[in-house]
Amino acid sequence: MLNESMAEKLEQLKQWRARSRAGGGERRVKQQRASGKQTARERLEQLLDPGTFVEIDPFVQGSSDDPEQPLGEGVVTGWGRIHGRPVYCFSQDFTIFGGSVGELHSRKICKVMDLAYKAGAPVIGINDSGGARIQEGVDALGAYGEIFARNARLSGVIPQISVVLGPSAGGAVYSPALTDFTFVADNVSKMFITGPQVTKAATGEDVTFEELGGAVIHSTKSGVAHFRAAAEASALQMVRELLTYLPSNNQALPPPADPLPPAGAPDELLTVVPADPNKAYDVRDVLHRVLDGGHLFEVHREFAPNAVVGFGRIHGQSVGVVANQPRVLAGCLDIDASDKIARFVRFCDAFNIPVITFIDVPGFLPGVSQEHRGIIRHGAKILYAYAEATVPKIAVILRKAYGGAYVAMSSRGIGADLAYAWPTAEIAVMGPEGAAQILYRNELAHADDPAALLKQRTEEYRRRFANPYIASARGMVDDVIDPRETRARLVDALDMLADKREERPPKKHGNIPL
Ligand code: HXC
Repeated sequence: MLNESMAEKLEQLKQWRARSRAGGGERRVKQQRASGKQTARERLEQLLDPGTFVEIDPFVQGSSDDPEQPLGEGVVTGWGRIHGRPVYCFSQDFTIFGGSVGELHSRKICKVMDLAYKAGAPVIGINDSGGARIQEGVDALGAYGEIFARNARLSGVIPQISVVLGPSAGGAVYSPALTDFTFVADNVSKMFITGPQVTKAATGEDVTFEELGGAVIHSTKSGVAHFRAAAEASALQMVRELLTYLPSNNQALPPPADPLPPAGAPDELLTVVPADPNKAYDVRDVLHRVLDGGHLFEVHREFAPNAVVGFGRIHGQSVGVVANQPRVLAGCLDIDASDKIARFVRFCDAFNIPVITFIDVPGFLPGVSQEHRGIIRHGAKILYAYAEATVPKIAVILRKAYGGAYVAMSSRGIGADLAYAWPTAEIAVMGPEGAAQILYRNELAHADDPAALLKQRTEEYRRRFANPYIASARGMVDDVIDPRETRARLVDALDMLADKREERPPKKHGNIPL
């Protein structure tokens, strides 16, 4: 039997809760919807397993004397489950002070980050914010610092995921940028350091929010976004899918799934790669015939498309896949592809996900622009990332593996545990024509028909050197395999390497070329 005073207290709690749930009030919630956005709580409901969200700190409020000030400080925080596994989360509420970050807003976010760290569970942040709360002045800047420091400390310990579903302005972009993966959605996501107004004043460039830092820009050009969805709901579903490939923390293994057969018949692998080494093809046609269900969950799909990276499964085990894409720039490695590959390999290594690399690479992309912008510095990241990684690393050389790009792409020398080559592989210091031009320069200069001679010498070189057997003879390739056996070999290799242990010398941290 409830006594009168308890009934009163419960009524009071109900009122406080209703006030907290009202966010910034009806008018602002309406505005939120009118701009094509959902509320902070609706987003969490879509992200998490139904009915699992547990909110904390709903009654946090700033120091204002206004008795009507909204509760919650512009961010909804707590935890829930995704596919039954715990995750911590926060979702900024644009209806309260534009989701801007002040001291208490930051304190709420930091609290869930600290809990996520202690519990060893991923943290997911949904960003929709006007940036530092202007009224709080430098306190708001210090508050951001607290979040950034945690982003860096938690990096490599638990997966950190950002979903940008609104503005992310000024220094506020740096929390998403410090996390492992950033999702954006068409029309709603806007990320920029300086908005269109400041940009115009500083540079004269007249651009819209969309042109400056919309979803397409960040998924195709800047590489800030790893995933772009057509709408908020699909972005949140993609986060759920991503988590199926990841362990909850760096001391756990990714969750196993039921094995599925790959797409197509093994025989199809005999014809995917064209016999003519100068012909392009889509390397995904190989990957789909090797991975469970033919499914690759691509990361950075639209950025640096000359490389393909993503998560898949082999016999139910989560793997990171890296591949050159001969269909774009002939699969050459450029600055953006280097960044893309290196960061992905480092993520996989931090979270115990084996890396399988499919190689068909003619070299690093030549050109003044690449050299001047630092292809040396960026390309070095790939070498560093593969060399540093201690997870199982398996390479499959499909066709071209030339020069420095061959060494960079998980060669045995740089630390692959196993390197297989298809019979179509050409492992050499450079392509046959380039080699012939250098080796026979004098002869070609004095030839009656230099073009015919070059063709002849190129063919000779190709016959002699452009095959997998010279590298095999030196132990740089562990075996030349029938393409149809690729998946079976990978299943076996992953099993043999399951308990792999590789030590590194103790150090504070390495100094990856950034
Ligand atoms: C306080 C803010 C705010 C902010 C928006 N609001 N940004 N309040 N601090 N930073 C409030 C608005 O006053 C308004 O309140 C409500 O949120 C909705 O804002 P609108 O402007 O009406 O919305 P919209 O037209 O959608 O425009 C969104 C916007 C714009 C593009 C984000 O609000 C904007 O430009 N805000 C300022 C962005 C900015 O310069 N931030 C500081 C960046 S510097 P009412 O009461 O009218 O509903 C920074 C440093 C971080 O972030 C440093 C980290 C190291």
